[in-house]
Amino acid sequence: MAAPQEILATRVQSALGAALGAEFAETDPVIRPSQFADYQANAALALAKRLGRAPRDVAADIVAQLDVDDMCRQVEISGPGFVNLTLREDWIAAQAQELLNDPRAGVPQQESETVAIDYSAPNVAKEMHVGHLRTTVVGDALVRVLEALGHDVVRQNHIGDWGTPFGMLIEHLLDVGEGSAEAELVKTDPNAFYQAAREQFDGSAEFAARARKRVVDLQAGDAETLRLWRELVELSTVYFNRIYDKLDVTLTDADLAGESKYNDMLPGICDELEREGIAEISDGALCVFLEGFTGREGKPVPLIVRKSDGGYGYGTTDLATVKYRVEHLGARRLLYVIGAPQSLHLRMVWETARKAGWLPEDVEPVHVQIGNVLGADGKILRTRSGKPIRLVELLDEAIERAAKVVADNRPDLDEDTRAGIAREVGIGAVKYADLSVSHDSEYVFDFDRMLALNGNTGPYLQYATARIRSIFRKGGVDPTAAAGPVAVTEPAERELALALLGFGPAVATVGATLEPHRLCAYLFELAQAFTGFFEHCPVLQAEDPAVRDSRFALIATTLRTLETGLNLLGVRAPEQM
Ligand code: ARG
Repeated sequence: MAAPQEILATRVQSALGAALGAEFAETDPVIRPSQFADYQANAALALAKRLGRAPRDVAADIVAQLDVDDMCRQVEISGPGFVNLTLREDWIAAQAQELLNDPRAGVPQQESETVAIDYSAPNVAKEMHVGHLRTTVVGDALVRVLEALGHDVVRQNHIGDWGTPFGMLIEHLLDVGEGSAEAELVKTDPNAFYQAAREQFDGSAEFAARARKRVVDLQAGDAETLRLWRELVELSTVYFNRIYDKLDVTLTDADLAGESKYNDMLPGICDELEREGIAEISDGALCVFLEGFTGREGKPVPLIVRKSDGGYGYGTTDLATVKYRVEHLGARRLLYVIGAPQSLHLRMVWETARKAGWLPEDVEPVHVQIGNVLGADGKILRTRSGKPIRLVELLDEAIERAAKVVADNRPDLDEDTRAGIAREVGIGAVKYADLSVSHDSEYVFDFDRMLALNGNTGPYLQYATARIRSIFRKGGVDPTAAAGPVAVTEPAERELALALLGFGPAVATVGATLEPHRLCAYLFELAQAFTGFFEHCPVLQAEDPAVRDSRFALIATTLRTLETGLNLLGVRAPEQM
């Protein structure tokens, strides 16, 4: 379904063509929401300059050709040459009715494109930190939105499952004993396991020597070493999955595509780069020097693809991800949902891949930059003792705090129901806090703020859906059966119906900009429009049955829109709150 703004844009463009000549039929009509009408078309101002005419005259010519009688009840030239457009109530009502009947709930169907999306990507035998939490939540919302728009989305969880730390981790696993309680820590408190291995490595020369030997065996493909490595990866996967489960994200084992996956590709990548003259040996290492990438004092910064000891690095693996995703997955858009500080790394990888011909011109790589999550002190969120936060505990605390709110508000509900709501509200609050600010900006992690029932929060939106459901319950009406017909007379009805029509465009905008916070902002506005409606327009108490039916249809559409939107963000909507 096209939004009013889009339909008006087409109409104004036809008028531009008719009034000023066919070459203007594709000019941007500059339609904006307006304070004085529903929308303003501002094209006349810029065009007047180009044509050397008075803007109001140009506007008058456009209006003379404008055919919007079916959708606008007023068209007015104002100020220096704005065209003010006010929609007809019956048109708005018909559009709202169409939305109610739309099986896609207003989400546009786009031409399908294959998109590879790299997100989450925690490291084996290490704690996931709040940065990983945010890429997981943002990445998963993008997956849901792109899939809903009709794209073929391939999730790639690039876990850190290879590299020198595995020497020490494997030796520690052997020392504590496979299957021992210490080994099981990888599943529950990976950092404790990692720290213990680290202490051995730093404290014992004998252990350190064994660990180094183990790295060599691992790289040589020694069978027993590989078995132990795989065991660590599997233990870690149990831990990751526990978090994914709690978070209610769509990632599964089938999406694991860790660093080790690309091992076989790395020698070939280096050979090709060297053969093509893209990489050269510098101080024993194979490096790519790219124009414009310089560090301090203008010294060129290399992308090291093979270290002087023959090992490959993070950059080499990422070159392989580009090649693999383009050649094997057939992706036309490559999304990397990764911390903002890795932007230089990615730009160097992509430029190298372009030079090598692995990244064709028509494939677009995008860094969806993830900003830091800060503590109240303005520094990266950590525990009071300075240790990384244990993500499971953080999520459990959110649920506990939500449980207190639910216990206060709904003592009438039984314990199981309350616990279910607390889970959805607690997790929803944390996820929504990650999503509602632009993904590349920092924000302060604050339980009180994210759990507040007021403001642009998950719980506020969840509460709006629960309120609508309770109206339906009281009225004994099934929300999916509300059929209208929709009529729009009261200003609050008009506002709500207009807000509803903005859903499709908001989802399309997220697909194009990869910014989930725009959907949050939209849903927040819609929930506010609903609150205004709720205050002014009684539903159950409406005397006229036709008004009652229309209002049921409006709130049914609101409910479905809010729930569809929250679902695209990966946030659940409890039936009651
Ligand atoms: N494992 C890395 C980290 O924890 C993130 C990997 C991101 N993905 C990638 N293709 N480089 O920082």
